[in-house]
Amino acid sequence: MIIALNNKSNLNKEEFDSYQEEFSKLSTEHPMIMCPTHLNIANFSLKNCSLGAQNVSKNDKGAHTGEVSATDLASYNVKYCIVGHSERRQELGETDEEINQKLKKLFQAGITPILCCGETREEREQNKVVDVITNEITKDTEGLTNEEKATLIVAYEPIWSIGTGLIPTNDEIEEVLQLIKSLLPESKILYGGSANEKNIEELKKCPTIDGYLLGGLSLKPNTLKEFIEKL
Ligand code: PGA
Repeated sequence: MIIALNNKSNLNKEEFDSYQEEFSKLSTEHPMIMCPTHLNIANFSLKNCSLGAQNVSKNDKGAHTGEVSATDLASYNVKYCIVGHSERRQELGETDEEINQKLKKLFQAGITPILCCGETREEREQNKVVDVITNEITKDTEGLTNEEKATLIVAYEPIWSIGTGLIPTNDEIEEVLQLIKSLLPESKILYGGSANEKNIEELKKCPTIDGYLLGGLSLKPNTLKEFIEKL
């Protein structure tokens, strides 16, 4: 199981230092990917997980104020990068076209993207899940080679589930994961959205889940330990 950790916009320098001290005591056979803030990437020193980023520029390095290019991330040993998180799609209006450009820049720089997709509560209620996921995945991965598609990691994150404590039933998750598999048969698929040490016993019964993308839990190494033990 892949355990990807999304710190989001949390942990200042001091906090990240003590967090790393705590986190370094975690040991597991499951591969872990830590995605700290861009600033903490420079400060990353953990040996028990790989380094990921939460975002990348859609452009090459150059005159793009405030952006961080894929090649610069690679120079800091970043091996993975979350792309198209719903918080960026919703708060910043990130489009599928931009996400597609970002995926291509990451592959060129040798970084594995973790592509997020997911539906809102209303879209689920209106039976639009299949359309939303198909549309996102198809547009986001347009023009990628088969090899790139096979390397890509996808995270299914129902938007209504992120940070809310609500999670879909296993049947609902399985239905979407099977759909993603039909579009990207070789990609690894993570589940994300309020996954925690309490619901993992149930979640782990989903046969298609290859791992988890954890937001809130990523900030609590002790609770994360409990989650990992139950995996
Ligand atoms: P959560 O966040 O685990 O806090 O729900 C997951 C995510 O947004 O990646």
